[in-house]
Amino acid sequence: MSQFLSVATVDSLPPGQGRTVELKGRRFAVFNLDGQFYAMDDTCPHRGGPLGAGVLEDGRVFCPLHGWSFDLKTGACHGNPETPVKPYQVRVENGDVQILIECLNSELSINPAQTKL
Ligand code: FES
Repeated sequence: MSQFLSVATVDSLPPGQGRTVELKGRRFAVFNLDGQFYAMDDTCPHRGGPLGAGVLEDGRVFCPLHGWSFDLKTGACHGNPETPVKPYQVRVENGDVQILIECLNSELSINPAQTKL
């Protein structure tokens, strides 16, 4: 089952920036590109770099460690198509940036307000 969970407030993530958030023991990278929000797995498939700390350019995030780049919409890796990262659906709800993630049945009872960062 999937559920939208808050990972940031709109005001805390200005255009052109990204961040790593930890939720339910997993790390996600969340970005604001010109007012549009995107999310993907935070771990770079090359050697584990934190994509949330990467640089945004041309609709992609560049890993801060060795520069591999990933499409913000699809997670496709430019130059290494066999190693995409998983993208997540994002919505803005009441000033919060929320991502749609799969949850275990035991996790569904968590109050989403408790997950706000
Ligand atoms: S760890 Fe991301 S490019 Fe090497």
